[in-house]
Amino acid sequence: MKNNIVLIGFMGSGKSTVGKQLSKLLGYTFVDTDLYIEQKENMTVSEIFAKHGEAYFRTLETEVAEVLSHKERLVIATGGGMILNKKNAQTLRSNALSVWLKVSPETVLERLKNDTSRPLLNHPNKTKAIEELLLQRNAMYNAACDVNVNADDTLENVTQSILSICGKM
Ligand code: S3P
Repeated sequence: MKNNIVLIGFMGSGKSTVGKQLSKLLGYTFVDTDLYIEQKENMTVSEIFAKHGEAYFRTLETEVAEVLSHKERLVIATGGGMILNKKNAQTLRSNALSVWLKVSPETVLERLKNDTSRPLLNHPNKTKAIEELLLQRNAMYNAACDVNVNADDTLENVTQSILSICGKM
């Protein structure tokens, strides 16, 4: 029996917004892995990347995945790179339905055009950075999910789609 729901997908796919709504509707507890890490380290994700580097941030993600996989009735919004490490994907999925919020580069750009909080997108050519990273990652999101939903849709509709999938399981 899987006890949690884990939302995976690219930056700007709506994991946190959808996760909050979904957790309220299901009566589950919402956890955002980026926020969890920021609170634990007392630094923002950007500060962690700048001070300790991406590899260190990835080790923190592995620790969080392990801790959360032992809990119940959680909706977990992951950082967009969480499942790049297959071990994290397996750990989280061992106790969760894994839902991929599948998003187009156009939607990501529209949602994050003014955002400066994602170090991997702080690039002079944001469009190219998004397209290249999405291309590299989509197969990994696909491999790490049980189901996918079209996250170009409104976040309300995405939440309803996931609820309906949960109802059928
Ligand atoms: C990252 C996504 C971010 C955050 C970090 C790295 C990534 O989370 O974990 O900036 O590698 O895709 P969001 O997906 O919540 O933006």
